Amino acid sequence: MNTCLTNNYSCSFYAFYYNVPMPELVNRIICGDCIEVLSKIEDPFADLIFADPPFNIGYKYDKYYDKVKSKNYIAWTKDWMTACKKVLKPDGSFYIAIGDDYAANVKIIGDELGLVMRNWIIWYYTFGQQTKSKFARSHTHIFYFVNDKKNFTFNDRAARVPSDRQLIYNDKRANPAGKMPDDVWTQFSRVCGTFKERASWHPCQMPESLLNRIISVSSNPGECVFDPFTGSGTTAAAAYQLNRNYCGTDISNDYVKNANKRLATLKKTSKQKTVNLFLNSHELAEIKRLASDMPIPTKEILADNKLTKIFTRQFSVRMNNGKKYTEQEIVTSLQEMIL
Ligand SMILES: C[S@@+](CC[C@H](N)C(=O)[O-])C[C@H]1O[C@@H](n2cnc3c(N)ncnc32)[C@H](O)[C@@H]1O
Repeated sequence: MNTCLTNNYSCSFYAFYYNVPMPELVNRIICGDCIEVLSKIEDPFADLIFADPPFNIGYKYDKYYDKVKSKNYIAWTKDWMTACKKVLKPDGSFYIAIGDDYAANVKIIGDELGLVMRNWIIWYYTFGQQTKSKFARSHTHIFYFVNDKKNFTFNDRAARVPSDRQLIYNDKRANPAGKMPDDVWTQFSRVCGTFKERASWHPCQMPESLLNRIISVSSNPGECVFDPFTGSGTTAAAAYQLNRNYCGTDISNDYVKNANKRLATLKKTSKQKTVNLFLNSHELAEIKRLASDMPIPTKEILADNKLTKIFTRQFSVRMNNGKKYTEQEIVTSLQEMIL
């Protein structure tokens, strides 16, 4: 069922497909069936894999039919998870987003493949599809697996947020580095039709903010993040902006072309990098990420000295570079951000 490879020779990077030398795949989005593409690769290359497959719920993709028999879908899930596991480095991490119907199957297949589950994350969102005859679905499961239960990357400082002890109770026992977020993620909105981020040519797009968290925590700059179901290119876009290498596949020629355009635009605009008097582009991106992870709106943080102090300290924790940031620098940058 690989349209790109059998009958569309204009597919980008088709030439690399057979006899794939790994460096040719880095920072590329390739049109093809992920299982076929991965079967040509000998050695593990991915430090982090993020997979958001079709959920078998009848979404309208251009080259994939999303309502197959349950037993075929489960067999296919096992095939692509096996193919991904083969290219995951021994110390690599593997995140899988999946709906209710097949979450249990993903967990069982993960166990069978020898993956170690570290978290079963629930991504809760508003703007779920409305229903009349049952409760509205407002979550997606995200499995966080690793290959080796002891040897993996987990940059906790990159995800820490201020605790209630710090924000509300002024409790001296609070860890000044903040706390790890819960495994129910509530602050990442779905990418709705009206959002600036929305790629109108793809039916379901993950928010970059959610990928930013996963990539910052489970990989390091310069490492390779692979997405077998690239879609609109969210994983690649987030990886690029966080100075990781990306690699992706998608069965649709049009999606691949558009995702490559998204990346090209990003690369062009990031050449005209936004900096301000105090912070470089990497620091500004981290300010934005922390502001979106905070349980309090930015305007309220700016209006309260105690909160700006906590925000500044949390920002230093996240940067983890020994540099001293003043509240004035952070406040100015936050103010510019919300203008
Ligand atoms: C849920 S979407 C991924 C959305 C993506 N996470 C994003 O943020 O845009 C699933 C994607 O898988 C692609 N797909 C379906 N079967 C595939 C296969 N066998 N190999 C590669 N891609 C496939 C579809 O074309 C679709 O774009």
